[in-house]
Order: sequence, then structure tokens, then C-alpha cells
Amino acid sequence: MAQAPLTSRKILLIVGGGIAAYKALELVRLIRKAGGEVQAVLTAAGAEFVTPLSLAALTGHPVRQTLFMPEDETSMGHIELSRWADLIVVAPATAGLIAKAANGLADDLASTTLIATDKKTLLAPAMNVRMWLHPAVQANVERLKGFDGFHGMAVVGPDDGEMACGEYGPGRMAEPAAIMDAIVRLLDGPDGRPLSGKRAVVTAGPTFEAIDPVRGLTNRSSGKQGYAIAAALADLGAEVTLVSGPTALAVPVGVTRIDVESAVEMQRATHAALPADVAVLSAAVADWRVDGVASGKIKKGPGGPPTLALIENPDILAGLAAPGPNRPTLVIGFAAETSDLETNARSKLSRKGCDWIVGNDVSDDVFGSDGNTVMLVTREGAETWPRQSKAEIARALAARIADHLTKA
Ligand code: CTP
Repeated sequence: MAQAPLTSRKILLIVGGGIAAYKALELVRLIRKAGGEVQAVLTAAGAEFVTPLSLAALTGHPVRQTLFMPEDETSMGHIELSRWADLIVVAPATAGLIAKAANGLADDLASTTLIATDKKTLLAPAMNVRMWLHPAVQANVERLKGFDGFHGMAVVGPDDGEMACGEYGPGRMAEPAAIMDAIVRLLDGPDGRPLSGKRAVVTAGPTFEAIDPVRGLTNRSSGKQGYAIAAALADLGAEVTLVSGPTALAVPVGVTRIDVESAVEMQRATHAALPADVAVLSAAVADWRVDGVASGKIKKGPGGPPTLALIENPDILAGLAAPGPNRPTLVIGFAAETSDLETNARSKLSRKGCDWIVGNDVSDDVFGSDGNTVMLVTREGAETWPRQSKAEIARALAARIADHLTKA
């Protein structure tokens, strides 16, 4: 039987204060099931959400809660704990814990351990969407990622979704299974950031093709899948340019976004982002644009509605996939289909000359939703992935891209 992925690995789990703390219990169970050992540090706020008893029972170790405990200092204090660990995981990582770590503030056991350690650290942020999007929090997260060479702060999530506070957006802690994947990757990889030094360009969202200064043609793409892919690639260390049509989404941490409207602008911006090792073209590019955009607002008149003449837009994917010095090593397109997913995806693959197609089954509720069912079609074969969240699909795709680029 294959060895469990975390056999004899030691994880120090810091549990911060947030409603997501209950998921830390499931994470402990998953780590132990995978053969790992867990010790937990519970912050004062964390103890408002889960009890030390639950954590002690699940980890099989006493739970550390305070900095100054004579018996801890003679057995295992904060320095010993960090020496013991192969990896430190903070789940949930609250805005407060992130701020302390980013600024070297050490005033309790959790923050002191984070500053005292030279071990790889994984943060699983969880907080209200507006807190997560606040520039102060974003700057702190960026700062922690930038400390990479020092003690390797990596970030998993947060996911988009409905939150306990009734709001909606990024801020929900990544699911325990996704945190587990990140743990395995961090412990396996040279530094857990297999795409460090690689460049990625991602297109996302709809395009908007003007009819006149106030009207236009567009579509119902939300951009969520492409944004999640940009975020997942950045999490693995890639330098990501996200060329985005109009969406209401926030720029993922660590990603450079170029805002565009039309297909022609998207093509220009995508080419300007080259060279890149991988291009993921998930945008729903309008197939046509209006020939001769009116310079002034078209008025109603006795002649009835205007007739719009359409001309075809450039195919950004086919252009990028065409042989040439700037062709990315891996060019990935999307195919939205309502039937014959594999056949249609495969014919798109050869017609457009790209390397992989993510076939998207749009027969059920995809547009704007958080879930998605996809099929990955490569020249070698096709595999159907189970319906999962767009964040999970993004992480799985980013992991496949990393595999491909690091073995290529
Ligand atoms: N694409 C592009 N530029 C275009 C049109 C599409 O880059 N002008 C890319 C999309 O980003 C996506 C893939 O091509 O990666 C989708 O191909 P497309 O032919 O638009 O697929 P469908 O809309 O599904 O087309 P069809 O009508 O052939 O089903």
C-alpha cells in the first residue's frame, strides 16, 4: 500500500478566532488520517469558537494557549514548538493574526511562534469580505508572501462564497481538503511554490463591444473562474497578469490586472503581457463587434430601429497558440458547451492549436455560480472532474500546470 502523504510529518496548527475555527477540527482529522502528527496552539479568540478539549482530543496532545506557562517552558515553549514542527499552519488566519505576523508584533503565543519560527508557514485566511478586501489586510498578506525567502509564508484561499455574517464574496476559509492539498504540496515541493519564476497570462470575464457611447453588446460571464485561476497560479508563485473584461470582482492578491473592454483591447493587452510560460484564456470573448461604432448616441427616429452590421472579432486564443517565438509553452483554452462536451472540446483544441481545453458544461447553472463541472482535454486524453467549486477547479488546474511546466 502507498505510504500516507504526511507520514511522520509534524504540523503545528495555530487556530485563530473566527467562525471558521470549527473547520480546523476537520483539518486535524485529515492530517492525522494522512499519517501526520499535529500540535495545536489556540489563541484566546480561537478559544471562543472551539474548545481546547476538542483540539486536545483530536490531536492527542495538550493544547497550548498561553505564552508564559512554567511547565510549557520546561517541556515545550514557543521556540521548542517551532523547532518541533515541519510546517506551521494558521487556520483560520484572522486579520489580527495576519497583521501581527506582517509587522513582527509578538504579544501572545500564536504571534510569538510565528515570528520565532524559521519553518514554512501556511496561512488560511478567513474573515468578513470587506475586511479581506481592505487595503491594510491586502498589504499585510502581500508583505507576508514577500517574506518568502525568509520563512516561506504561503497562502491558501480564501474562497468566494456565502459567509457566516450573511455577506458574499472572498473571505471564506478554504475547505480543509484544500488546506490539506496545500500542506502536502508545501512539504513535498522545494519551497512549495513550484511556479516561482514562471509567468502566466490569464484572460477573464466578458468583453463589451460598443454600439455607441452608451450602449454595447456583452454576455453573462462573471469572470469568477478566470479570477480563481489567476489567484491559484499566483498562490503557486507565478507572476500573473490578468487581462479582464468588465466584472465586479476584486483583484486577487499578488495578481496584476489589466482592465479592458473590447475583444480588440483584450487581444492587445494579452499580447503585451508576453512572454509567458502559460496562458489560460478563460474570457468569454464576444465573437462579433459592431462595424462602425457610432460616435454619438443613436437616437430613436421615424426610421425605426437601427440595423447593426457585425464583423468578426480576432480569435485571441488561436492567435496566441499559433507557432512563433512568443508562443507560451502551454496554451489553455475554454470551451463552453451544452452537449457533446468532449467531441466539441477536442475539435476546438485542434482548430485553435492550443494544448489543453477546459471543457465547460454549461447545461446547468454555471454563469455567476460558484460551482462548475469541467473536463480537461489534452492531446493525450480527456478526464472529467467532479462538480466542485470554481476555486477548487482553479487550484486543481494550477497544480496540473505546475506539474507540466516543472517536468517540461
Ligand atoms: N476565444 C478567444 N477569442 C475569441 C473567441 C474565443 O480567445 N475571439 C477563446 C475563449 O477565451 C475560450 C475559447 O476561445 O478560451 C472559446 O472558443 P469559442 O470558439 O469562442 O468557443 P465557443 O464560444 O464555445 O464557440 P462555438 O461557437 O464554436 O461553440
